[in-house]
Amino acid sequence: MLRTISLLNRLMHRHNGVSKHRRLWSSAAEGAVAPPADRSLTAEQAVRLWAQHFTLHGISEPLLSSQYIISHVLGEKTLERVQRKRLRDTLTDGERERVWELCSKRLTRMPVQYVIEEWDFRDLTLKMKPPVFIPRPETEELVSQVLEDLRLISHRTDLRCLEVGCGSGAISLSLLRSIPQLRVFALDRSQTAVCLTRENANRLGLQGRLDVYHLDVIKDADAILSKCDPVDFLVSNPPYLLSQNMETLQTEILRFEDHSALDGGLDGLSVIRPILALSSKLLTQRGRIYLEVAPCHPPVIEQLIKEMRLGLLYLETRCDFTNRPRFCVLLKKGEDD
Ligand SMILES: C[S@@+](CC[C@H](N)C(=O)[O-])C[C@H]1O[C@@H](n2cnc3c(N)ncnc32)[C@H](O)[C@@H]1O
Repeated sequence: MLRTISLLNRLMHRHNGVSKHRRLWSSAAEGAVAPPADRSLTAEQAVRLWAQHFTLHGISEPLLSSQYIISHVLGEKTLERVQRKRLRDTLTDGERERVWELCSKRLTRMPVQYVIEEWDFRDLTLKMKPPVFIPRPETEELVSQVLEDLRLISHRTDLRCLEVGCGSGAISLSLLRSIPQLRVFALDRSQTAVCLTRENANRLGLQGRLDVYHLDVIKDADAILSKCDPVDFLVSNPPYLLSQNMETLQTEILRFEDHSALDGGLDGLSVIRPILALSSKLLTQRGRIYLEVAPCHPPVIEQLIKEMRLGLLYLETRCDFTNRPRFCVLLKKGEDD
């Protein structure tokens, strides 16, 4: 930390003088922060400088933010993957300008994933674009659980799945990548999300087994039923936050991510209810539903399917890596159930 501050001070006095320095670090609201006149800045120095500056401005995860952005500019995903020598080389003018441009975006509280326009989900690198929801690590667990269960029916030559609320395509594309005999129908109420899922599918060469529709599970049930063939399983990470909890979200999320990707209404179930109703019509016998939900939801959903009499069975609740009950697995009853 001390070294960072002294580096910052040195740059400030050696090249710009105090008043210029203040302009250099002008507030993000004034627009992009201009790159320094200093032409001898190394990547290592830039990382420390920006981590310090992010800290001063109350940006969350200041060091990680700086590291991700600068490694991205150097063509790598993490700083560990950048060659040591490269870290100690002086940044080119173009690199320095790009670092300043991207770090200035982070100063506006834009999430790093949107700043660098990509993020890894399991073994995929996905393009990210605001305001499409940024995939979270819990959802990687959801995908692992689905894949683990599907091993039991891996002998099937044709498997079909529906994903409700595909966002960037993280879940659907991971499943398609891992299961060669799978065909996926994915839908989202956001046109931007639909386009991003298609773009990610094309980049990954997975578009041949994916149909993506701009449809709303609340309003377009009939259209979904007419477009989508019966499926062996349905997976969804729907909006599930209770509306009253939306204001507790980080500034990064509130300012940049689509609120309708997060807000599940008064009880957090406004999208989950129609998903359950749709599942009972679309699933094949003994087909499964995998849902990512809020920790308060599993017992409520268990009760709900009894009340809704949809022909669904509540199989189990699974926990995430922090041991919170976050995943519900349900089953469409077969003739023998
Ligand atoms: C929490 S995000 C999940 C995105 C992605 N599946 C993931 O895990 O990264 C929820 C997604 O559901 C979509 N969505 C919200 N309400 C919907 C509705 N009524 N019908 C269809 N999609 C909806 C949002 O646009 C958003 O992309």
